[in-house]
Amino acid sequence: METYRRDRSYRWNYERGPSFSGSFPAIVDTPLKDFFGSRVSSRLGVAAGILLNSKWVECYSRLGFDVLTYKTVRSRARPCYPLPNWVFVESEKDLESGSDEILRIARRRPRDPAEVTSAVCFGMPSQPPEVWRRDVSRAHSRIRRGQVLVVSVVGTPQEGGGEESLVEDFCRCARWASEAGAGIVEANFSCPNVCTAEGSIYQDPGASGRLAAALRDVLPSTPLLIKSGHFSDHRRLGNFYRAVSGSADGVVLVNGVSRRVLGADDQPVFGDYERVGILGKAIHPAAVSNVTAAVKCSRSQDLGVETIAVGGVTGVEDPGPFFDAGARGVVMGGVPMLDPLLAVRMKAAHPQW
Ligand SMILES: Cc1cc2nc3c(=O)[nH]c(=O)nc-3n(C[C@H](O)[C@H](O)[C@H](O)COP(=O)(O)O)c2cc1C
Repeated sequence: METYRRDRSYRWNYERGPSFSGSFPAIVDTPLKDFFGSRVSSRLGVAAGILLNSKWVECYSRLGFDVLTYKTVRSRARPCYPLPNWVFVESEKDLESGSDEILRIARRRPRDPAEVTSAVCFGMPSQPPEVWRRDVSRAHSRIRRGQVLVVSVVGTPQEGGGEESLVEDFCRCARWASEAGAGIVEANFSCPNVCTAEGSIYQDPGASGRLAAALRDVLPSTPLLIKSGHFSDHRRLGNFYRAVSGSADGVVLVNGVSRRVLGADDQPVFGDYERVGILGKAIHPAAVSNVTAAVKCSRSQDLGVETIAVGGVTGVEDPGPFFDAGARGVVMGGVPMLDPLLAVRMKAAHPQW
């Protein structure tokens, strides 16, 4: 069962999804924990990805995911890239940090969700703001006690607009998200499949620092997280953390790891978008390595920036290395689509998470 129908368009999934026909599980009682000022039943959640609107948020709230991230929205409508948007890829080995291997589309679908590595290419589509602002309020009203709604936002570059106009646009979205009921705002500084400036801000510490400071100003009382891409060089990761220190409450690390994906015909699977985000099992070691280095850097230099881990969690025990490293929370991108009952099993096995 796949709650997100990969054979259908983004619009179809937005309007008709989620495709969940099972019965909702009983949720085990777990002690409440602090998560950036909210009391949550667990620090486990869904990353910016499949929670396309309030129907999706409500479904995953009932499935026991407690940190619920509304997929990235913009200040203007943006269509999704054409199909395919999401394919499974072969993953006999882990992605090596810093290397640039080419991945192949999977010949068959792995039977076990814990074995899945996939590639996505959506282009950060968005509903117009008047639609998502109303819908974020609805999502906020549908989540339960012990849960928090995070809203992911991104700025959209304007031709000739430069950095200032991008910062303004980010701030406008962040303010709207907060006004609509976001418990936490997540600003997306990375996207492996958009070629414009908003996809790679995290690689520029100067721009990241200026943008984070501007966002802090418009969100005086709403926690601010920043979504970052993967760093193959830990020195650059340290530069990024130092740049956003004092502005961001936390960094959500990592987005899909950028790689080329080819089909059986040796052509790029996603057409013009050769480099796309790899997620799932194969990126777990790279994500653990980044998160471990990030927590160490923030603590040793007293930066005050928490880390929320994401990347390659596919089984019940996978958040363990992240929490052991000192992550404040663990969110999941792809696996909730294939294994919607995973959070329930994780909370039963690890009520302290
Ligand atoms: C269908 C899908 C769409 C995604 N869209 C976004 C997005 O809009 N914004 C964002 O910051 N990350 C997005 N992501 C990336 C995830 O938040 C996450 O960083 C990535 O999937 C790695 O985690 P995983 O290995 O648990 O899947 C998306 C992931 C998926 C599966």
